[in-house]
Amino acid sequence: MSAFKGKVAIITGSSRGIGKSIALKLAKEGFHIILNGRNQDRLDKAKLEIEKVNLNVCCFCCDVSDEEESKKLIDFAITQYGRLDILINNVGVSNRGTILESKPEVYKRVFESNFFGSVYPTIFALPDIKKQKGSIVFISSVAGIRGLPSLGAYCSSKMAIRAIAESIRIEEHDSGIHVGLIYVGRTEIEHNKESIASDGATVVLEDRSSKFIQSTAYVANKVFLNIKRRKFVSTLSNIGKINLILQSRFPMLVEKIIIRSSKKFKNGLK
Ligand SMILES: NC(=O)c1ccc[n+]([C@@H]2O[C@H](COP(=O)([O-])OP(=O)(O)OC[C@H]3O[C@@H](n4cnc5c(N)ncnc54)[C@H](OP(=O)(O)O)[C@@H]3O)[C@@H](O)[C@H]2O)c1
Repeated sequence: MSAFKGKVAIITGSSRGIGKSIALKLAKEGFHIILNGRNQDRLDKAKLEIEKVNLNVCCFCCDVSDEEESKKLIDFAITQYGRLDILINNVGVSNRGTILESKPEVYKRVFESNFFGSVYPTIFALPDIKKQKGSIVFISSVAGIRGLPSLGAYCSSKMAIRAIAESIRIEEHDSGIHVGLIYVGRTEIEHNKESIASDGATVVLEDRSSKFIQSTAYVANKVFLNIKRRKFVSTLSNIGKINLILQSRFPMLVEKIIIRSSKKFKNGLK
């Protein structure tokens, strides 16, 4: 029997993409799952997929960038299952555009989603997770290691998440909880994934296909291993691993490399 059978996991932003794959992986491992997203239809479809491997799955439709709604999400888990073991802060949106091009509201929206959308659920979940000596996992990005051109809002929101993760690890050192931080590399996306353009408009990203793109199932498996092994940082791509080492030792070299490849990089953002 799996050591995780009957444990309860909330995965924010799990109606599609990486979040849905994490939910599926944890469901296979025996967790009771709470899916979250802002669109009920999308959530219902994801629930049907996950029920094929584990019937203990339910949805809570809410916007985690709203404090009250985040509280209701955590309360729902406790009412439904009486406990909470794992919170995966997966919600995140990216932006496109340099600081000169971008309207201030782009920064506000990215931080509301990526930073506050992780901090609010964490604040409300922490007391229950402490009772179970469970895990809080933050889904970051290799773009959270080093500021990148045209991605300033996204990079800074993901860096802020690292700081929160580090603070909680120290504050909760004696409580026995696990805090994980996942630097995800470029990953396959579900059709119609959205980003925020410099003028604040919502843009739909092009589907990706390249041998360098990770599958969402690969990311989900690594997130599960992070929880199982109670690791702090898991870096999921080779570029991310190299970036992490070079950034800590030779940050100016990293800057030179990014400047030299910035045109290629900008094209890759589409
Ligand atoms: N895909 C990549 O290449 C990549 C690379 C590095 C890191 N990441 C990180 O991995 C995470 C997931 O990325 P993804 O590509 O799977 O994203 P995605 O396809 O855009 O999925 C985002 C999920 O979050 C939900 N959501 C968005 N905002 C929400 C909010 N405020 N409250 C509740 N639910 C919300 C969406 O559903 P609704 O829209 O219906 O609410 C959807 O289920 C993000 O943190 C992202 O930054 C992704």
